[in-house]
Amino acid sequence: MLQLLQKRIKKTKFATVLQTFNIKIMCGIVGYIGKRDAYPILIKGLHRLEYRGYDSAGVALINSKQELKVYKAKGKVADLEHAVESKDVSGTIGIAHTRWATHGEPNQVNAHPHYSESEELAIIHNGIIENYAVLKQGLMKHGYSFKSETDTEVLVQLIEYIKTTDKTDLQTAVQLALNQVVGAYAIVVLDRNNPDEMVAARKGSPLVVGIGEDEFFLASDATPIVEFTNKVVYVGEQEIVHLQRGKEISIRTIGNVVKTPEIKKLEMTLSQLEKGGYPHFMLKEIFEQPTTLATSMRGRVNIEHNNITLAGFIDNKEKFLNAKRIIITACGTSWHAGLIGMYAIEEFARIPVVVEYSSEFRYRSPVINEDDLVIAISQSGETADTLAAIELAKSHGAFIFGICNVVGASIPRAAHSGCYTHVGPEIGVASTKAFTAQVTVLTMLALMIGKEKGTLSDERYLQIVSELAKIPEKISETLKQDDRIAEFAKTFTYAQNFIYLGRGYNYPIAMEGALKLKEISYIHAEGYPAAEMKHGPIALINQEMPVVVIAPQCGTYEKVVSNIQEIKARKGRIISIVTNGDTVVRDMSDYSICIPETEECLVPLLAAIPLQLLAYHIAVVKGCDVDQPRNLAKSVTVE
Ligand code: G6P
Repeated sequence: MLQLLQKRIKKTKFATVLQTFNIKIMCGIVGYIGKRDAYPILIKGLHRLEYRGYDSAGVALINSKQELKVYKAKGKVADLEHAVESKDVSGTIGIAHTRWATHGEPNQVNAHPHYSESEELAIIHNGIIENYAVLKQGLMKHGYSFKSETDTEVLVQLIEYIKTTDKTDLQTAVQLALNQVVGAYAIVVLDRNNPDEMVAARKGSPLVVGIGEDEFFLASDATPIVEFTNKVVYVGEQEIVHLQRGKEISIRTIGNVVKTPEIKKLEMTLSQLEKGGYPHFMLKEIFEQPTTLATSMRGRVNIEHNNITLAGFIDNKEKFLNAKRIIITACGTSWHAGLIGMYAIEEFARIPVVVEYSSEFRYRSPVINEDDLVIAISQSGETADTLAAIELAKSHGAFIFGICNVVGASIPRAAHSGCYTHVGPEIGVASTKAFTAQVTVLTMLALMIGKEKGTLSDERYLQIVSELAKIPEKISETLKQDDRIAEFAKTFTYAQNFIYLGRGYNYPIAMEGALKLKEISYIHAEGYPAAEMKHGPIALINQEMPVVVIAPQCGTYEKVVSNIQEIKARKGRIISIVTNGDTVVRDMSDYSICIPETEECLVPLLAAIPLQLLAYHIAVVKGCDVDQPRNLAKSVTVE
């Protein structure tokens, strides 16, 4: 048996070398084995994972008669619950899945779990099996037939084929099968003949095991686990986990090396996963920002001594001080945070910075040098393009500093060093509190580098740090305008387009405001540098066009005032974000939202708040699904 295993491993070594980070999908996995009824735990877990984005759901359970039942439904988890209303959902072992379609359309047949040919095994899978077509052909020659169009069904059939022809146990069959697979996966497999065990494995897609009293939980992230246990094991790359009733968790690698499980304590709490009285997670997360930013700064910004200590920077000071260039790479909202980081690092630390979309960076043969420092930013820590950008930069010898929110995610593990944003789980698909924390961390970093390099005077450093410490309080003040924003948001539900304008630090904020509106209200919106407007977008302005202008009284204020006049002259409808006490811009605007005065580099942290609220309220009035907007996923693990 061992010989056979080694032979197979050798044969497929090339496949292992070809491991890529660009081929994962954002499905959700939940599993349970223990003494309780599995079904309610699995369904609750699927609900917790809904934020990730999906289009069908399914569950598999082994009941006391040793029957393996699989139920699936297109649509939401609620549709699955409805579909199983009169079915047998008993059993203390089970797996469940939310699928975001890649191979095959989102329908009931393609939904997971998938049975094997004999219906003795069932599998759930996140990821893509790249060589599924070849494997499928081989299995068809051996008489296997396929019900779905998925790559996943091929994998479960392969496991069954190996299990029966080699007369081996489930864990070994999974191991042998995975040695033939090219691609990425997190999988969990059930075997009707062995109702006291389940086997899971990971390569590329995240997987967490929760350890309870005589029970185990499995999930794509810790959110389905947190209410049952705070002891978790993050499954490592290419590891296979064997969970058996009444036994300890056991782990070995696909290459057959036994591993000692590292049990970690979860910091997440259940209340962080609930709406806490708010109608949507997004609104809750917007309102959490005074607290989350204070948490993000806690232990880092010393208010008494106006000092910043960021361990990730201190540990790698030389890397930062000697960097000839900083490359920031990220996607979506995190990319916008990166742009603000560029303004701050260049202003305070005088190091040239480029900000790259990870998806472009990884494919355009960029010049990366050993004295480049790469900052990779990601809320989820699982974004496939950003992970691939990290791997590319690493292969050129660059030092990678990660900024991430989800503890233990793939990006912090792939980076050489970094720091967490510490804002707790962000459930709303449209990022809010994670964004302001990313900007805060980048600002702290820029200030520390500047101070150490001597490119920022002590006096300015102290002024800005003291202002930074006041930001949570100033966000609280800004949030008081929520009712007014909700009121005037109703006026703009007619709009099909929006323009957002800003200059300097507020140009990325204009783009972020536009992105928020697009994501959740489905209104087309463009974020533009205010002065560029006259080179094109001005042609779009008429009495129908709402133009959001970020016009705080600092930096290029006078110039922004001129830009507003240009819009006014063309009868555009102006919504302005102004500094408390401003009357000039307010008088020119249809609606104005005031933010407290602060340092120019910190304005984005305040200006982001009304823009988040504006997008939120417009989406609510339009009746959109704010927390789970169509076609979007929270964790984009597909390229
Ligand atoms: C998705 C989300 C965005 C997010 C982007 C990057 O598109 O919908 O809100 O900004 O991914 O995600 P990351 O987790 O890497 O920050």
